[in-house]
Amino acid sequence: MSVTAVLGCLFGDEAKAKIVDVLASDADIIVRFQGGSNAGHTIQFNNQKFVMHLIPSGIFHEGKKCALGSAVVIDPEQLEKEMNALIEKGVDLKGRFLIDQRASIVLPLHKQLDERQEELSGDKKIGTTKRGIGPCYSDSIARIGIRMTDLNDLKVLKYKLSYLSKYHHLEMDDDAVKAQAESLFAFGERMKDCFVNLPYILNKYYIEDKEILFEGAQGTLLDIYFGTYPYVTSSHTVSGGISIATGFAPNKIDLLIGVFKAYFSRVGSGPFPTELSCQIGEKIRKQGNEFGSTTGRPRRCGWFDAVAAKYSIMVNGIDNIALTLLDVLTGFDELKICTGYMIDGKLITEFPADQRILENAEPVYTVMDSWQEDITQCKTWESLPLNAQLYVKKIESLLERPVSIVSVGPNREQTIFLSE
Ligand code: GDP
Ligand code: IMO
Ligand code: MG
Repeated sequence: MSVTAVLGCLFGDEAKAKIVDVLASDADIIVRFQGGSNAGHTIQFNNQKFVMHLIPSGIFHEGKKCALGSAVVIDPEQLEKEMNALIEKGVDLKGRFLIDQRASIVLPLHKQLDERQEELSGDKKIGTTKRGIGPCYSDSIARIGIRMTDLNDLKVLKYKLSYLSKYHHLEMDDDAVKAQAESLFAFGERMKDCFVNLPYILNKYYIEDKEILFEGAQGTLLDIYFGTYPYVTSSHTVSGGISIATGFAPNKIDLLIGVFKAYFSRVGSGPFPTELSCQIGEKIRKQGNEFGSTTGRPRRCGWFDAVAAKYSIMVNGIDNIALTLLDVLTGFDELKICTGYMIDGKLITEFPADQRILENAEPVYTVMDSWQEDITQCKTWESLPLNAQLYVKKIESLLERPVSIVSVGPNREQTIFLSE
C-alpha cells in the first residue's frame, strides 16, 4: 500500500504527466487535485502523443480509476472535448472517470473576466492562459461559484448565473441566462454517473491498502501563496494543496516525488533570474521543443536554479526527485547551475518572497562540463556519459535529496529508475 504524489516543483511543464503515466501502472486510482484546463500534460507512447488538460494522466492505463478533486476547476466544454477525443481513440471511460461533487465550474464569463483583467494590466499582465482560472477560483473563494452539486437544479443555476453576471457587471439578459443554465443542466445530466463524494472513495481505497497516486498541475513557483506572486496561478500547487483539494489527510501521504526539469522554463510573465535571452536559451528551447502545451507560446528557458529548486523541496517536503528532459542539455559547451543570488551586493541563498527583489537577482553560477553523446536511448545509470552522471549528482547534492528517476526523452521507455 502506498500513497504517492507527483508534484511540479518549478514554473510548470516539468513533465509531470510523463512521470505520472510511468508510475500509473502501479496505481489503483490517479487523482488530479487542482488547476484546470490551464494545464497541458503531455503523454507519449507507441508513437502517439496526447495532451491532457483536465483528465488525469493515468487514463491510458486500462482499468485504473482517474479522479478530479474538489479544487479542480472544470470547463464543461473542454472536459467533454477531451473525453470525446479519448473515447474516439478507444479509451474506455465508463466507471473509471470520477469527479468530486464539490468541484467548481469554469463559466464563459470567467474567461471574459480573465481577458479583461489581462487587458487592464497592460505591460504588467500575468500572461495567463485565458482559460478563466483566476476568476473561477475568485468566485469560489467569494462563495458565489457554481459547483457540480448545483448542476441538477435549473432554478439554482439560473439564480447563480444571473447573480454572477450582475456581480461582475456583465451584460447577460434573461434569455442568455436561461440558455446557459439549460446547457449546464444538460452537461450535469450527461456527467451524472461521474459525480462522487471523493473523500470517502479515497479513504476507502486507503483502508483497502490500494495505491493512490496524486497528480499535480502547474508548479510550486506558480503557487498562489508560495510562487512569484502576482505572477502565479490561482491554486495551491504545493503538497499542502493535496489535502485541501481532496479531503485526504496529509499524514496518509507516504511519498512526495518532486518533478524538476534539468534546466528551467517559464511561460507567461514574471521574474526568472536564470533566464537566458540569448543563443543558449534559444538552443534549449529548440532542443526541448519548449512551446506551451496549452497556448503554444514559446517558453522562456534558462539554467537550473538550485536556490528556487531547494525552496521547492522545502515548502513541499519533497522526498525524492524525478529529473526530466536531461537529454535536452546534450551538446552544450558548458552547463551552469545557479547556487545563489547577488542582490544589492549581497549573496542570498533564500528564495525571496518579494518578486521585485527576485527581479533584481543576479545569479551566481557553478559551471559544469556538458556531454556530446546522444542519451535518449540510455536505459541505465551506467550507460549515461560521465558528465551527465556528474550533473545529476550535482543536483542531488545541492538539493540534498536523491534523484530516483531520470527522464531522457518524452516516451515511457525513455526513463531510468535509480531506485524502487
Ligand atoms: P507537464 O505539464 O509537467 O506534464 O509537462 P508538459 O507536457 O507541458 O511539457 C513537457 C514536455 O516535455 C512534453 O512535450 C513532453 O512530451 C516532453 N518530455 C517529457 N519528458 C521528456 C524528456 O525526458 N525529454 C524530452 N526531450 N522531452 C520530454
Ligand atoms: P502545467 O500543469 C506552465 C502559467 C501561465 C501564467 C500563470 C497564470 O502544464 O504545468 P493561469 O491561466 O493559470 O491564470 O495563468 O501560470 N501557467 C502555466 N505554466 N504550465 C502550466 O500548467 C501552467 N498553468 C498556468 O502561463 O504565467
Ligand atoms: Mg504543461
